[in-house]
Amino acid sequence: MHYAKILGSGSYLPAKRVSNDDLAQFVDTSDEWIQSRTGIQFRHFAAENELTSDLAVIAAQRALEAANLTGDDIDLIIVATATPDMQFPSTATIVQQKLGISGCAAFDVQAVCAGFMYALTTANAYIKSGMAKTVLVIGAETFSHILDWQDRTTCVLFGDGAGAVVLGASDEAGIIHSKLQADGSYLDLLKVPAHIAGGQICGNPYVEMDGPGVFKFAVKTLAKVAEDVLAEAGYEAKQVDWLVPHQANKRIIDSTVKHLGLSMDKVIVTVQDHGNTSAASIPLALDVGIRSGNIQRGQTLLLEGIGGGFAWGAVLVKY
Ligand code: COA
Repeated sequence: MHYAKILGSGSYLPAKRVSNDDLAQFVDTSDEWIQSRTGIQFRHFAAENELTSDLAVIAAQRALEAANLTGDDIDLIIVATATPDMQFPSTATIVQQKLGISGCAAFDVQAVCAGFMYALTTANAYIKSGMAKTVLVIGAETFSHILDWQDRTTCVLFGDGAGAVVLGASDEAGIIHSKLQADGSYLDLLKVPAHIAGGQICGNPYVEMDGPGVFKFAVKTLAKVAEDVLAEAGYEAKQVDWLVPHQANKRIIDSTVKHLGLSMDKVIVTVQDHGNTSAASIPLALDVGIRSGNIQRGQTLLLEGIGGGFAWGAVLVKY
């Protein structure tokens, strides 16, 4: 067994769909501003009592169904999230309990919008080393719960959702190569600085972002990591059937596409419908690409994401 292969995928969006015009009812913004700066038209928001694990469980069930497996087949659950249900335990163990399974290992990965790249790479390492055979990898977020509705520079950008894949050990090609990187010196560009101490929330519990700073860093870094992962695997961009990028901003996606010399018809774009769903964005886009019939078995996919930390990564996959 030399590879970790994607056996099935699933996703879930909460019922409440919010347009830019809906947001403009209570935020000083406009559909024109949001669309022209980001490409976002809609996003979904979880209900107040709907937690990240609730979204994650539905995406996971759909991925298991697509893989023709049940929870009992899973020997590791990894949840990438920056909006966990609780301080502890991990959202992964809560998902495990809600799926009605027990005994397998379960933990969270925290790399914000790059979380799914980190989780997928970790799952790949478990499978390749023989430590796991079948891994449920989930990216799930309820960012609407940590948005400051008074801060129009951040609250219009994010949405809630979940995406999942089941990765299984296989002789057939699956994950070909992956590259993860981080640089903590960019901490201040994007953060939720709060922590809990003495029964109090200390610091701002909402998203803080230097938008233009993030934009510049993301454009440069995503182009480089995409190029690096291809070069290290001995691939050229023209061999990529589908780019499945992090869905933060259409202009960032356009810039990566231009840099790689790809055409837009080889790119899965969902940012207009989902907004930035952080760790959920790549698996959500992947599932949309698969279920729409665009992504076919045997095709080569390049996944890439970047988020607070800063942390970033890219994964080259034979689907
Ligand atoms: N609606 C209307 N106007 C807004 C607004 C909103 N939601 N948010 C900001 N503005 C205003 C600003 O106040 C500013 O007005 P001023 O010129 O009168 O001061 C103006 O729009 C331009 O602001 P600026 O921040 O320079 O806009 P921008 O073109 O850089 O776009 C972002 C802002 C956030 C869309 C852009 O920087 C971006 O996409 N950054 C990356 C964010 C991201 O992807 N984060 C997640 C990474 S994982």
